[in-house]
Amino acid sequence: MRTFHITTYGCQMNVHDSEGISGVLMAEGYQPVADEADADVVLINTCAVRAKPERKVEAKIGALSARRREATLDVLGICGCMAQEHGQALLDRYPQLDFVCGTGNLSAVPRLIRSALAGERGSALDMAGDVAVDLPREHGSRHRAYVDIIYGCTNFCSYCIVPYVRGPERSRPVDEVLDEVRRLAEGGWIEVTLLGQNVNSYGRDLPEDAPRFSELLRRVDAIDGLRRVRFTTSHPRDCDAELLETMAELESVCEHLHLPVQAGDDEILARMNRGYTHDQYLALVEAAREAMPGLSLTTDVIVGFPGETRRQFEETLRLFEEVRYDSAFSFIYVPRPGTAAAEMDDPVPHEEKVEWLKELATRQKDISRERNQPLVGETVEVLVDGPSEGDPTKLSGRTRTNKLVIFGPRGAAEEGDLVHVRTTQAKLWGFEGELAEGDLAGERRSDR
Ligand code: SAM
Ligand code: SF4
Ligand code: F3S
Repeated sequence: MRTFHITTYGCQMNVHDSEGISGVLMAEGYQPVADEADADVVLINTCAVRAKPERKVEAKIGALSARRREATLDVLGICGCMAQEHGQALLDRYPQLDFVCGTGNLSAVPRLIRSALAGERGSALDMAGDVAVDLPREHGSRHRAYVDIIYGCTNFCSYCIVPYVRGPERSRPVDEVLDEVRRLAEGGWIEVTLLGQNVNSYGRDLPEDAPRFSELLRRVDAIDGLRRVRFTTSHPRDCDAELLETMAELESVCEHLHLPVQAGDDEILARMNRGYTHDQYLALVEAAREAMPGLSLTTDVIVGFPGETRRQFEETLRLFEEVRYDSAFSFIYVPRPGTAAAEMDDPVPHEEKVEWLKELATRQKDISRERNQPLVGETVEVLVDGPSEGDPTKLSGRTRTNKLVIFGPRGAAEEGDLVHVRTTQAKLWGFEGELAEGDLAGERRSDR
């Protein structure tokens, strides 16, 4: 039996695509192995959003060349966004590569492997092709699962390569989404995360009478057995009062909103093509917190967009003070070939952008701690993921607000249990705590 290993870079959508590739390969009799060194087939599922993940992939291909030369590795394939972006050029550049497989062709992987074993190099790059919705998925967890609801993106934010490597927005038919969620709930999964680059666009490309995102959430919430529903990512321009009301109303929908702001200055936001202003974004945050008082709010932000001045960057700092996010992913702008922003003048030196990023991240770290501190002593519901990576004598899990909680002792609960934990210490990333049995009954996996 042939073995395979997949290394995944990038966002949750890519992680989920790797689950699909694993599922397809296992259905064909391939066996997954945890250690790449033991694999006959090595696949790299790539990201193209910034230069760093691309450099990592190049280094990895280089590191695997020796195995390919010595014939201890049968097949080496590149999948995902970087494969879609560079296509044939990757095959031309790396003779040790057997195939490239783009984002819309996951089900082509077994065929590409077979051809490679027969000595033929190949590619599958039809972006608008089969998005492989009904792949058998090999979920990374037995209690949390991703479900695609919309593929691609048509927003064309001026800095972003995603629309070029994932194609236009395509919503999955509602019945298909609901069937998949139902199957997961029947199989014992209690948390689903609905995935899309802009989930708020869901249904706009479907027939007039098809449900939009809020209605989809209602139908998912009605499925028996699900305890937690999450979604990512929401575009602020399309996040409306109806969605906030729906989130507040539906019991399974978690009190967490990832709402990427990208910048705080109106001119930069306009040049990014984001479709909202600083004040409109703040009004949305206010409405969201009013609808859900315990809401946790997270964001993505880009520092040093072409032509951004210190004064404009200070608008981002001001916005962070005003919003007070629970946490934020901050990135230095990286030009992506073919995007509109890559053509814009970018006079600010990289070193200065690094300083801005540090300044913003330092401030956000303090805010994250300050936001968690008042919640110490509270009892929170935690879905247990398993032993804590940092301290294997303890367990780790997530609150409904998506904060990490580390608590002990390890034997107190099992992976997939929903338990109640009293928080004892606030951290940047969440909380330390202790099991709060007696206060509120936890629900064990075995109870279900
Ligand atoms: N669809 C989501 C959205 O609208 O925010 C996420 C898009 S992208 C996969 C994830 C994050 O990467 C973005 O939110 C943005 O902050 C960052 N990003 C995208 N392009 C970038 C670039 N050229 N340079 C730096 N960061 C970038
Ligand atoms: Fe990129 Fe903008 Fe689409 Fe998000 S909404 S994937 S940032 S183009
Ligand atoms: Fe990267 Fe592609 Fe996701 S570019 S962030 S893996 S959609």
